[in-house]
Amino acid sequence: MNDLKTLRKERLARHITALPKSGIRDFFELAKNMDGVISLGVGEPDFVTPKSIRQAAIDSLEQGFTGYTSNLGLYSLRKEICKYLESDYGCCYSPDDECLVTVGVSEAFELAIRAITNPGDEIIYFEPCYVSYNATIKMFHGIPIVSPTCEKNGFSVDVEDVKNKITPKTKAIILNFPCNPTGGTLNSAQLKAIAELAIKHDLIVIADEIYSELTYEGRLPSIASLPGMKERCIFLHGFSKAFAMTGLRIGYACGPADIIGIMMKIHQYSIMSAPTLGQYAAVEALKTGRPEMEKMHEEYRRRRDVIVQGMNDAGLTCFKPKGAFYAFPNITGTGLSSQDFAMKFLEQQKVAVVPGTAFGDSGEGFVRCCYAASMENIKEALRRLELFVKSLK
Ligand SMILES: Cc1ncc(COP(=O)(O)O)c(C=O)c1O
Repeated sequence: MNDLKTLRKERLARHITALPKSGIRDFFELAKNMDGVISLGVGEPDFVTPKSIRQAAIDSLEQGFTGYTSNLGLYSLRKEICKYLESDYGCCYSPDDECLVTVGVSEAFELAIRAITNPGDEIIYFEPCYVSYNATIKMFHGIPIVSPTCEKNGFSVDVEDVKNKITPKTKAIILNFPCNPTGGTLNSAQLKAIAELAIKHDLIVIADEIYSELTYEGRLPSIASLPGMKERCIFLHGFSKAFAMTGLRIGYACGPADIIGIMMKIHQYSIMSAPTLGQYAAVEALKTGRPEMEKMHEEYRRRRDVIVQGMNDAGLTCFKPKGAFYAFPNITGTGLSSQDFAMKFLEQQKVAVVPGTAFGDSGEGFVRCCYAASMENIKEALRRLELFVKSLK
């Protein structure tokens, strides 16, 4: 006879029960309950959403726009998104059937995986990477295939490794450059090589462009704009990072009408429409938010330079990230594992960083430090880091 616990467990979906919880959130529950903690943890801008964007959200409420929108999203927003992707990314999409507004890139990513994955399909991604990739692929019965990136190559892709990992079961490749958590980017030869592999093996490319505005050393085109790629690319983007709009929860997916149509079907049954007030705010962001976005971008660049220098001065080796807002220092010189480093640094100096292993096994030996924090907090965190590293000697 099964005991109660076993019975309860059997009621649950086995493949979800087997997934670990996100390594980021667990850690921050701990930090939340301590006083005086400086958080370089959660990947979210410390800036408040720019005023004109907030005002647009307020105005939409005042005008009574509190109902659902079209399942695809406000037509005015889809039109602005398509205009933006054409002017800034060289990608042409129709607002009628090639653009879907979602609840953040989080939903857009999940829809993309659900729309293309049949059980047993293999999906290649680069690791260390955003925490959702592995879990989402598994949730929808795909097989995650990891291609590791490494510090000595600037956390860029190893095209030969990707080639070797393609099998008849490969369905898609996920690209997220600039990368969370490493800040690595690709060069144009690598981008072209990945595109050629995708065409040769008839693969879909999911391009998670969420950090694409936040590059510091020259911006590459999106892979979706390369010849032959539009028809096999799902372009994901949103407003959370570059426009400091995490809480407004607006993202989008653009791609071939057949794929967007399937994504839309799932979205229709599970979400209906993205938050209406967030959609009005997003229209404003694209119309007038660019100067504010650029100011934040410049400020991240200043913070990046300070944090990288400070980490190297403190005795860690820190790759200079080329985009996003994360530093990913190598902590192996301290003799601690990523998990122990993060835990001890929190306990002893009250600075929260994320163990590199939260982003996959290949993140061992690193921690992620988000520099979307005030300069004052960054400088204080660096002072505490120096004390911490010294105390380990
Ligand atoms: C690489 C990447 N993709 C997607 C997301 C999800 O962002 P959102 O759902 O807020 O748009 C994040 C958030 O940290 C991210 O880092």
